[in-house]
Amino acid sequence: MINYIFYHSTAAPNSTPDDDRAIVHAAWRANHTQKITGYLVRHGSNYVQWLEGPKGSLDRLYEKLGKDDRHQDLEILASGERVNRVFPSWLMGFLQHDDHLYVPLKSAERVTTDQAEYVLDIMKSHAQRRLCKLAL
Ligand SMILES: Cc1cc2nc3c(=O)[nH]c(=O)nc-3n(C[C@H](O)[C@H](O)[C@H](O)COP(=O)(O)O)c2cc1C
Repeated sequence: MINYIFYHSTAAPNSTPDDDRAIVHAAWRANHTQKITGYLVRHGSNYVQWLEGPKGSLDRLYEKLGKDDRHQDLEILASGERVNRVFPSWLMGFLQHDDHLYVPLKSAERVTTDQAEYVLDIMKSHAQRRLCKLAL
């Protein structure tokens, strides 16, 4: 079984695209050794991140995330155990706000638990599109 944490947070007010790049690069470096995979969406000032891996690795990372001042107000949308990883080939996929995102999400100040499933679908289809592109 594999554990997962799906959470929402709000980016720090002074956050820039450089911060996002630094976060994703840090994730690429560290997640491999921790056997963590997942996907991060940045949508306006919202972050939504799906993390999956061994429970110990996830707990350690979530504790670090809670202390990272590049974002705040972390809120777990879903967590638990699954048989398989959703993003086995993504040390950390990244999707920045784009027009393909569902309209209600655009106006939402925070992603709610109700929308969690929908955001996961967005992540899955984005991962799929990118894999297709790579395969071409
Ligand atoms: C939205 C967001 C997502 C992050 N995702 C990851 C991640 O997937 N993996 C990771 O190692 N660090 C991630 N970080 C960075 C961690 O909070 C932390 O800075 C990093 O793990 C380095 O911690 P250390 O220097 O104490 O080892 C993320 C930070 C933010 C703000």
